[in-house]
Amino acid sequence: MTGRRVIVTGVPGVGKTTVVNGALKMLEDEGVTYKSLNFGTYMFEVAKKEGVVSDRDEMRKLDREVQKRLQKEAARAMARESGNVLIDTHASVKTPRGYLPGLPEWVLRELMPDTIVLVETDEDQILMRRLSDETRTRDMEGSKGIAEHQQFNRSIGASYAMITGCTIRMVTNADHLLEQAIGDMASVLR
Ligand code: AP5
Repeated sequence: MTGRRVIVTGVPGVGKTTVVNGALKMLEDEGVTYKSLNFGTYMFEVAKKEGVVSDRDEMRKLDREVQKRLQKEAARAMARESGNVLIDTHASVKTPRGYLPGLPEWVLRELMPDTIVLVETDEDQILMRRLSDETRTRDMEGSKGIAEHQQFNRSIGASYAMITGCTIRMVTNADHLLEQAIGDMASVLR
């Protein structure tokens, strides 16, 4: 494999997709290109074909074994990509039965990232973003639950680094400071 492989994670609504798109645009102007892949989209395409879901927000409620199978198929498909690759996904997924690792060992061994980025911000800001985003079916939870999820993601991120030897980088996407987050993300990808 040639090129760099960067995995970008963050709890739903933290704004990872917004930050990634801004950073990729900035880098494109400098001649640095990445293939941007969305893990959820790969999973959703398989799930839709099998008729197990009709909305991407239903996936985290599927049986754990089904989610794991979809994860594996998505990882295998993404691993075939060469060049600089950026994968937009989750360090963990909050399911009705607890946190499901977004990057379990069998996924990491396929993807072998150079860096995992954790996009974070204050839990109250994430709550407000979820409430004002009408395009998605967000799970309703309080800021305490969001804080716990972000904390869990840092812990599980450390175990991903242990398995792969990748670096871990936190990028803060605070209200009114999107440009700073985009600049930080671009510096990771550059
Ligand atoms: P996915 O589509 O990745 O779900 P998501 O996290 O909800 O992704 P979004 O892109 O909607 O959220 P975001 O945080 O990127 O926020 P956005 O940029 O839109 O995944 C879908 C599903 O796939 C998952 O639920 C799961 O089931 C499954 N899945 C994926 N990966 C998996 C894996 N590895 N294993 C198992 N299952 C997996 O921004 C949100 C809002 O904030 C917007 O309104 C935006 O305008 C606003 N905003 C952004 N930045 C700022 C800022 N700085 N200030 C103010 N507002 C801001």
